[in-house]
Amino acid sequence: MSNQLFKKVLVCGGAGFIGSNFVHHLHGAYPDCQIYNLDMLTYSGNKKNLSDLDGSGRYEFIHGDIGDKNLLSSLFNTHRFDAVVNFAAESHVDRSLHSSYHFIQSNVVGTHTLIEAARQHAVPRFIQISTDEVYGDIRDGESDENTPLNPSSPYSSSKAAADLLIKSYIKSYKLPAVIVRGSNNFGPYQYPEKLIPLVISNLLEGKKIPVHGNGLHTRSWLYVQDFCHAIDAVLCRGKLGEIYNVSGVPKTNLEVLEEISKNLNLTTSWQESVVHTNDRPGADLRYAPNSGKIMREMGWRPLWRFEDGMKSTVQWYLTNREWWTQIKNTPAFLEHYEKQYKAQYF
Ligand code: NAD
Ligand code: DAU
Repeated sequence: MSNQLFKKVLVCGGAGFIGSNFVHHLHGAYPDCQIYNLDMLTYSGNKKNLSDLDGSGRYEFIHGDIGDKNLLSSLFNTHRFDAVVNFAAESHVDRSLHSSYHFIQSNVVGTHTLIEAARQHAVPRFIQISTDEVYGDIRDGESDENTPLNPSSPYSSSKAAADLLIKSYIKSYKLPAVIVRGSNNFGPYQYPEKLIPLVISNLLEGKKIPVHGNGLHTRSWLYVQDFCHAIDAVLCRGKLGEIYNVSGVPKTNLEVLEEISKNLNLTTSWQESVVHTNDRPGADLRYAPNSGKIMREMGWRPLWRFEDGMKSTVQWYLTNREWWTQIKNTPAFLEHYEKQYKAQYF
């Protein structure tokens, strides 16, 4: 795939889970691409995720907030980026139910500040990383890109708000933007508050697994490398002004737990470790995004079977125990986990 249009890319939120996988992908796939990573390093941002790129002349880390107008102005004036890819966000539904101020600040105000800077500096291409959660609970059928937005949590409504702001900038200012709505990603470097890394690490530590409600909620599980390929395709060839869903394989949470356990040498059955907790208030029972559009228009296909993605993910958490042990001992993790485990939202 030709990348001649994109020599200088600003990735925002590149120190988090998907962002760091995407920076690795860009760095490996495009030897003539200069990558700038603007990240505020919130609790889920981790410079270690990209420590292997220290010393690379093609990667630069910038510590800062996408909501900092002056910083953006100076960055955009200095660098004249060919493209901006925005991953920066507060990303955890449970945290948004406890307190949503940071979600509105980063996901809505931050995204607005960033698109305003992109508009003022005439950035040729802006890719917003959005989520299938903006469609809300899909009890029947599938959500395509025209399905009405019906978000359930402060997190998903902040992402929907950002999508609407971008759509208005596309219409009013011809902002050259594309929105990518991904489903539940899994893979290396995912912060261990999310279901899959939490379950893997808790089982390895001999701890209980908190399962919300009956555990039959369905998510569309997408291996992070497949999502990075989809974002790459949209960056290079996505039609300006369009929205693309990217989905994975539907599984219930209990099916996910079963698959994780197949890859661990457990001495007892995983079912014995389960503790059923209250469901999230307003919990979405099913997401079912349809990726037909990106498949038809760009020939994107997931390359990873769910089982292979899980095997590789479990292997990564086994090999990188120090990475997640350190995180699980920080106050940011422990304070949140206490609330999450007890499912006390109010
Ligand atoms: P993450 O929490 O692991 O990473 C978020 C990153 O953004 C962190 O490095 C954090 O420091 C940074 N950040 C937060 N606020 C910032 C700000 N104001 N300025 C600069 N940096 C800031 O999240 P993730 O799971 O990697 O998700 C990345 C993006 O993809 C998010 O926009 C999320 O909504 C979206 N998304 C995630 C999934 C998923 O399954 N994880 C699926 C679809 C879409
Ligand atoms: O669908 C895309 C979204 O996927 C992204 O936009 C979000 O950023 C990302 O966090 C993810 O949201 P979910 O809420 O679906 O993911 P999470 O891993 O938090 O939860 C997945 C399911 O597992 C959900 O039904 C809640 C349940 N769950 C989660 C946790 C953390 C549990 O049963 N126990 C848990 O401890």
